Amino acid sequence: MQELAGLVRAVPDFPTTGVLFRDVSPLLASASAFARCIDALAEPWQGLGVQAVCGIEARGFIFGAALAQRLHAGFVPLRKPNKLPPPVLAVDYQLEYGSDRLEAQREAVRPGERVLLVDDVLATGGTLAAAAALADLLGAELVGASVVVELTALQGRTRWQQGTPLHSLLRY
Ligand code: PRP
Ligand code: HPA
Repeated sequence: MQELAGLVRAVPDFPTTGVLFRDVSPLLASASAFARCIDALAEPWQGLGVQAVCGIEARGFIFGAALAQRLHAGFVPLRKPNKLPPPVLAVDYQLEYGSDRLEAQREAVRPGERVLLVDDVLATGGTLAAAAALADLLGAELVGASVVVELTALQGRTRWQQGTPLHSLLRY
């Protein structure tokens, strides 16, 4: 985990002044670190019957697609507005810097399907909470969520539903 942590770059004042941005690009660029990261993301969910991994646009797609393969599950993209053809379901949310909307195709998940949410970073928690609300709208059974990086000072975990597992690999 030490090696993975060393491959997340801290970038001051990006994308706006006062934000310390955690950049996972160097981790992705290392074949061994990326593979270890996917192993570590998969570990808590082995044997729990995850049927679909829902990755959050954009960096959640990268980790989510690789994790879906590792868990022998399907992959469902949760996308920013107006990217998916209808019919879609949508949830609005607030970001650390701005606001946004997540959409999913209405038939992307079968009722009761066991889904896992994945993203690169948990910051204020608005995105992951919106993804959980979207999973609920889709009629999924939410098994839990995994993120690579948790920014603990922003207390995003407090916006996550108690009783549902939320795993993070690296905490800052
Ligand atoms: C970032 C990050 C998470 C979200 C976390 O995405 O990838 O999805 O912010 O923030 P929160 O916990 O405060 O909601 P961003 O909207 O920057 O999109 P991108 O992945 O498309 O760059
Ligand atoms: N890194 C990547 N995405 C983010 C961050 C960050 O530090 N904060 C909010 N979204």
